[in-house]
Formats: sequence, C-alpha cells, structure tokens
Amino acid sequence: MAVTSGLQHVIESQQFSRSILEDLFARADEIKREPHHFIGRLAGQVMAALFYEPSTRTRLSFEAAMLRLGGETMGTDNAREFSSAAKGETLEDTIQIVGGYADVIVLRHNEEGAAKRAAAVASVPIINAGDGPGQHPTQALLDLYTVRNELGRIDGVRVAMVGDLANGRTVRSLTYLLGKFKDIKVWFVAPPQVAMREDLKAHLDEHHVPWIETEDLNAVLPEADVVYMTRIQKERFTDPEAYNAVKGAYRIDKDAMALMRKYAILMHPLPRVDEISPEVDADPRSAYFRQARNGLHVRMALLDRLLT
Ligand code: CP
Repeated sequence: MAVTSGLQHVIESQQFSRSILEDLFARADEIKREPHHFIGRLAGQVMAALFYEPSTRTRLSFEAAMLRLGGETMGTDNAREFSSAAKGETLEDTIQIVGGYADVIVLRHNEEGAAKRAAAVASVPIINAGDGPGQHPTQALLDLYTVRNELGRIDGVRVAMVGDLANGRTVRSLTYLLGKFKDIKVWFVAPPQVAMREDLKAHLDEHHVPWIETEDLNAVLPEADVVYMTRIQKERFTDPEAYNAVKGAYRIDKDAMALMRKYAILMHPLPRVDEISPEVDADPRSAYFRQARNGLHVRMALLDRLLT
C-alpha cells in the first residue's frame, strides 16, 4: 500500500479530507474517460470480499473494479452461514486469517463497529462495505461523486434525506461527507420512529451545518437540489408491528416529481422497495441508476489509491 495515499483502512466518512475526495473524484473521472490506461494496474493483487449481509451493488461493483484493474477476487457471500463464523470463529480471527491470503479485505457485516474491530487486527487494508446501521463510506463516496457530476458542484447544495434515517448507514455516511463542504443545508425527512440519530445532528451542529427535521416531504420537495430516498429497512426491526407502522411512509411518483425543482436530482442507494415508483425512472432527474454505475469508477479509484 502506498504510504502517500493518506488512507490505510476505509472505515468511516469522517476520515476523508476534502483534498482526498477531490483527488479520488478526479481519478474516477480519468478511469471513466480512459479505462484502458488502468488495465493491469493491480495485477498480482487479491481482494477478499467478506459479506455477512446480502449485497448486489457493493459486492459486484467491488469485484468488477478489482477485475477491471487486473487484480483477482475471492470471497464469501452469506458469511454468517458459509464461513467458519457458523462454527463460532470470531470476526477478529477470520480477519487475521484472510489478511494472510489477500491484499485488501472488503467487509460487510451486520454489527455496527465491525469494520473498526476488523481494522484493529488487520495486516491489510479493511474497506467497510456497510456495518449494520453504522456507516457505508464507499456508498457515500459514489453518492457525493454523483452529486458533483450531476449538479456540477457540491458546495451550496441543499439535500433532503428521506426515509429510514435511524438505520440508514448510507445517509449517515453521506451526511458526514457533506459536512466537509460549504453552505450545505440538510433536511431529515422521516417518521419520528426512524428519525436521524442525535450523534449525527450534534456533529452537524459542531460543524455549523444547518439542518431541519420534518415529516412533511411535500413541503421540502420544491426546495431541495437533491432528494435522497431510502428504503425502510425491514431487516433492522425486531417488532413487525413497528415496521408496519412506518413502511410506505414516503413514495416518489409523478405527482411528487412535479413538486421538485427542474434541475434537482432524485437519488437512492438502492435496492428500492416501493419508495420510488418505476413510473419516474425515465425522468431525467432520476439519477439512481447512474449513481449505481458511478460505484464502479469510484471503487476502482479507491482500490487504485489504496493498493498502488
Ligand atoms: N447500495 C448498496 O449498498 O446496495 P447493496 O446492498 O446491493 O450492496
């Protein structure tokens, strides 16, 4: 790993400086524009993907990123069942073993704080690919890259975060990143049962980022530059009644899109359930499939930075 990268492990958004973000995004632009220049960059290096929770985008875009850079990949889906975790092996032991086989470990885990625990014992870089309701910093990188590319700026953007904010690790990570930019305004739009946690609101206060909490999405839609929808995360609820009370709280359809600004964008980390109607997919402001595609280039840039 390059000692000049300024990054060892990727655990939480707070560790990214604005200059690292700008470098990463410039590298992602270059990769997107001239992918042939990056063929073979990571030849001979191996990425292990340890996924204790389901994934489509994160797992496959990391694998595609490593393969397109000339590296190799290995890993396990459903690691709670198909790794030796099923026999009682601790995460710490697994990480020390896999670190002997791979040059980087991409870890998705069901417990908040798991990536930090892994980094404490790892001999190779750990990339947090989502730790329960904690953080998902590489999603935040691709989200911020999408805002920059779609709107042409990050400073001054007004972002509505909508849905399951208590469990939304992508919202948490993106909000921490936005806090590094100027003149940002954030709305947290959620039912009270899944409102944004106090720690992040305190962080925004400390960094003088204005935020407003509301349940009224329709009042916010005409104001926001970015509407960031999220799924109500059924898997995080222990009580089905509690889930039923908030499911379907918000839905973007053609009528909702009509309230949005002409140059605003609609984002979603995906997967979606029913919070964005497919009838708005063709609206040019719907950026979520472009957003997912950006994950490939941003993760290529990140692996390149960590491993060269
Ligand atoms: N956005 C995201 O993390 O998607 P996956 O769960 O499919 O990886």
